[in-house]
This record gives sequence, C-alpha cells and structure tokens, in this order.
Amino acid sequence: MSSEANVRSNKYTLSDREFSFICKLVYGSTGIVLGERKREMVYRRLMRRTRELGLDSFSDYCTLLKNDEASELPNFTNAITTNLTSFFRESHHFDYLRDVMLPEMLKQQRRESDGRRLRIWSSACSTGEEPYSAAITLLEAMGPEISSWDVRILATDLDSNVVATGSAGIYKQDRIKDLEPSMKREWFHKGSGKNLGFVRVDRRLSNLITFKTLNLLHDWPIHGPFDVIFCRNVMIYFDKETQYKLILRYFDLLRPGGVLFIGHSESMPKEIRQFEFLGKTIFRRPE
Ligand SMILES: C[S@@+](CC[C@H](N)C(=O)[O-])C[C@H]1O[C@@H](n2cnc3c(N)ncnc32)[C@H](O)[C@@H]1O
Repeated sequence: MSSEANVRSNKYTLSDREFSFICKLVYGSTGIVLGERKREMVYRRLMRRTRELGLDSFSDYCTLLKNDEASELPNFTNAITTNLTSFFRESHHFDYLRDVMLPEMLKQQRRESDGRRLRIWSSACSTGEEPYSAAITLLEAMGPEISSWDVRILATDLDSNVVATGSAGIYKQDRIKDLEPSMKREWFHKGSGKNLGFVRVDRRLSNLITFKTLNLLHDWPIHGPFDVIFCRNVMIYFDKETQYKLILRYFDLLRPGGVLFIGHSESMPKEIRQFEFLGKTIFRRPE
C-alpha cells in the first residue's frame, strides 16, 4: 500500500509525487536526505508554511516552489531544518578547548611574541548556543590575557531565522537553567517588563562573534586558517558523499594542529585518513 493511501481527514494531503518533489528539492539545495521516515515531519512543517501563505493545498505550495523557487526557497529550507541545540551541548568539546587546547596555545604564545590569533568556526550554529558556549569558554579560560589576542568566532547556518536569533542573543530563561549559577550571573542579563522570562547574552560574548547565513554546500567566502571548527549534528542529515567532501574542505581550512569537533552520532568517513583521532569525536589536523 502506498503511503499516499494514508489519506488525511483534512484538506492538506501530501501525495507521493509532492513528497518526492520536496525530497529532491531539499537534497539539491541543502544536502539533507529525507526518507520516508521523515514524511510526517515534512508534512507538519510545510503545512505550517503553506497555511501562512494562505494556500489551499500542498499542490499549490509545490507549484509556488516550481514557479518562484528563488524567493520561496529560503523559507522552505528554514521550515525543513532541524535546529535542536543547547548551551554546552556535548560539553567534552568545551572541556577540551579549556583544558588542553587553550593552555597549549597560551603557553606557546608566551614564548613567541607574535601570532596571537585565535579563530573558531561554528559551522552549523543553529540559534547560537554553540558559539556563545565557545565564547564563554575562551573568556573564562584566557582571563584578562584575551585582550592581547586577536580572537574571532564565526557562526554560520543555512537557516536565516536561527542566525537572526543567534545574532540577537536573546533566549528564554529556561534555556540556561542547567548552567552553573556563577556562569548565569556572569554572562546573562535577566530581562524585565516585557522581556521578563528572557535573558540577553553579555556584550563581551557577542563582541567576539560574527553571525552569517551560509550553506555548507556552496562556496565559503571564508579565510582560514581556523584553530577550531565545530561541525556538530549536521552531517547526520547528509549522505556519505556530501560528508566526505565537507570534511576535506574543513581539513583545508584548519591550521596544522587545529581541531575539528563532530557530533556524538557522527563519524569520520573511513576513507579520510588525514586527521589524527584524539578520541570522543575530536579530530586534529596533524602539525
Ligand atoms: C541539529 S542543528 C545542530 C546545531 C549545533 N551544531 C549543535 O550541535 O547543537 C543542525 C543545524 O544544521 C543546519 N544545516 C542543515 N543543513 C545545512 C547546510 N547545508 N548548510 C548549513 N547549515 C545547515 C540547520 O539549519 C541546523 O541549524
């Protein structure tokens, strides 16, 4: 029985032909592979968008995409992406940064007077918790010494809505509920009045970060080299070939000794032998 036979009671039905058109468009524009298991999710997310536009059916929405792809595509991809994230998610990466990488860099730079440059790229940053966690880690680990360094964090994502959220740096208070009280006090400001229930990140954090929309499948107008690249919980949505190409592109942008962090359910393609594996989803470009 085709899944189309799962006819819904309301007027929004997603036919096999429409679903297949959507899957191809998503794959071509984002690299995200959608299978039958994602059908329900696609249905829910695009139904919202179809209604927002005042359209009567998925068929009308698909026609709109075919006729005016350039203007609807960003909204379409924003609707499809999964943006789950949190502050200090997979915290061992931030521990590694604080306990291993930064002490090494600080020690080395105390011996050499020049080259006090530190670059981090959060390459699928979602709503910004990942780059802000990196910024907190740097500021806490480097202390006042950070002022004599040239530090920048680049935070990019395909989804323009999440990039705007990250750039605004305002979060519901419960997003920081699991952080240490001292960390909350130091880096987040509670809102009042109409902002009650929200926190705003401290300017010392936002001053380090540049947010931009970027599709990992396209050209990267980015100059490395980076000391650290976060590519976490995005490759799982891609096929092997896309993952392979992406990781080699990251390799080229890392400085020798720079590290790549990947997500807990992701792995390094076995054909890629250039990286040194440091354990726990941490990979280093050899010196
Ligand atoms: C699950 S979130 C991961 C967020 C964060 N890295 C973390 O681990 O908490 C995946 C993010 O990848 C982004 N994404 C998906 N396809 C992308 C692409 N082709 N280029 C850039 N970002 C993409 C989505 O918009 C989404 O915000």
